[in-house]
Amino acid sequence: MKSFYITTAIDYVNGAPHVGHAYEKVLTDVIARFRRQMGDRVHFLTGADEHGQKVQASARKQGVDPQRYVDETSAQFRALYDRLGVSYDDFIRTTEPRHKQVVRGILQQLFDKGEIYRAEYRGFYSTRQEQFLQEKDRNPDGTWPEIFGEVTEIVEPNYFFQLKKYQPWLVEFLTANQDFIFPHYRQKQVLEFLKEPLNDLCISRPKERLEWGIPLPFDEGYVTYVWFDALLNYYSAVVDKGLWPATWNLIGKDILVPPHAVYWPIMLKAAGLPPPQGLLVHGWWLQSGAKMSKSTGGGVNPLALVDEFGVDAFRYFLLREMNVGQDSEFTREQFLVRYNSELANNLGNLVNRTLNMTTRYVGGVVPAPEVSEELEKSLHALWAKTRDEVLPLCEGFQFHTALERTMVFLTETNAYVEKRAPFRLAKSADARDQALLRTSLATMAESLRLAVALMQQVTPTATAKINAVLGYTPGAHWRDELDWGSRLTGSKVAASLVLFPRPTPTDKTPAKPA
Ligand code: MSP
Repeated sequence: MKSFYITTAIDYVNGAPHVGHAYEKVLTDVIARFRRQMGDRVHFLTGADEHGQKVQASARKQGVDPQRYVDETSAQFRALYDRLGVSYDDFIRTTEPRHKQVVRGILQQLFDKGEIYRAEYRGFYSTRQEQFLQEKDRNPDGTWPEIFGEVTEIVEPNYFFQLKKYQPWLVEFLTANQDFIFPHYRQKQVLEFLKEPLNDLCISRPKERLEWGIPLPFDEGYVTYVWFDALLNYYSAVVDKGLWPATWNLIGKDILVPPHAVYWPIMLKAAGLPPPQGLLVHGWWLQSGAKMSKSTGGGVNPLALVDEFGVDAFRYFLLREMNVGQDSEFTREQFLVRYNSELANNLGNLVNRTLNMTTRYVGGVVPAPEVSEELEKSLHALWAKTRDEVLPLCEGFQFHTALERTMVFLTETNAYVEKRAPFRLAKSADARDQALLRTSLATMAESLRLAVALMQQVTPTATAKINAVLGYTPGAHWRDELDWGSRLTGSKVAASLVLFPRPTPTDKTPAKPA
């Protein structure tokens, strides 16, 4: 069994979760489920980034202790992921002792080796924002923007991690490992970034300015810079499981350079640990062209669509609409287009017709196929082609195209029903028509079983429900499930199933999904 260890970014839990957080966890879940179906031994890690300035500030604003604050907010993120069917194996919180211990161990090791050194840090500091500013933060006339309040130049001793000396190694590593970053063009952007000299990384914050962090093991007057702490979660969570290196670290494009593409591989290298096999970088959900960051903001609240249309429809939209790596607009209109035409019409229709006609014409028991004419043969051929395309598409994270191909197969199955017209055959007493009728019902049921098998990593509940109404229990080896056959022969089907109720024209809100 191949081991497949996949991680998500761990979210800052200084507010409520939004669609960007949810998308990443669902995408990772779809990959994890796909790999499990392919027979890999999957370990799926997600979690919460609980230290740092942002969390400390939000907790203070609410007048609560930061630990209590993150206990509550982390639980909200986790509850959302549970609701969305995210099948993580472990949820790490950076305030947990198991994580802090590993971070402190690595800091001490790097300090002992001279990879971390103490030096003066000189910079412009905004007390109001509690952060160091950079030259690029200045107004064009050289003054500091109003939001920073009073800005003073300060000099303070801090601890630095030797990034600079590893720059040649990183360039060499990225040049030798062309597939380290997916999509590939992002790797080129990183190499472009590395044309400029790196500075060593300040990894400490004096306690007077930031208390909410992991104390440095070699100087308790400081806490660890939040990125140095957070990145190590991928390792600390599996240190006792022997699962490092990870297969993929999934992240959004905003946290590739420098944290994941520069700090992370260098931290591992300095600690004598191998890098992950790759970084999978997704794009952003946008609203009117801007990155979505809050669930409100004038437009649609994507997470509210989960209540309205159900978890499967939501997951389906995220995966069908977004080409992994690129950006996508999130609109209710587009959600409704996909929901109506692909889930309610295409898939929903085939479910209804199969159950309905099997119940009416043959007493609800799936017949054996008897004839194979041109119509059946071309559908079988389309199935073989669809399956052979979809598996590699999923392996390459092209889920949007995989779903599109599956939809084409469903459309063609519905077209087959129109052409074969079981509703006409049922009226004929002719023996051949009756054989064709039984064949058409068997064909519809088998097509449906196969199509939803291909969708199960995206729409796991709908797939399970459809299998249940078809009276079908899938086997353990998913690949074997994907051959056209007559596994459903003799199976008793349910009379109906409402999966994706259609919104009525006057009221856009459908009844609660089954
Ligand atoms: N805490 C850091 C990550 C540390 S990983 C060691 C962080 N947290 S975050 O909450 O700001 O973002 C978490 C993830 O959500 C990131 O991968 C980020 O790219 C993703 N998204 C946040 N908004 C997004 C969209 N609008 N669209 C898609 N994903 C985006 O960064």
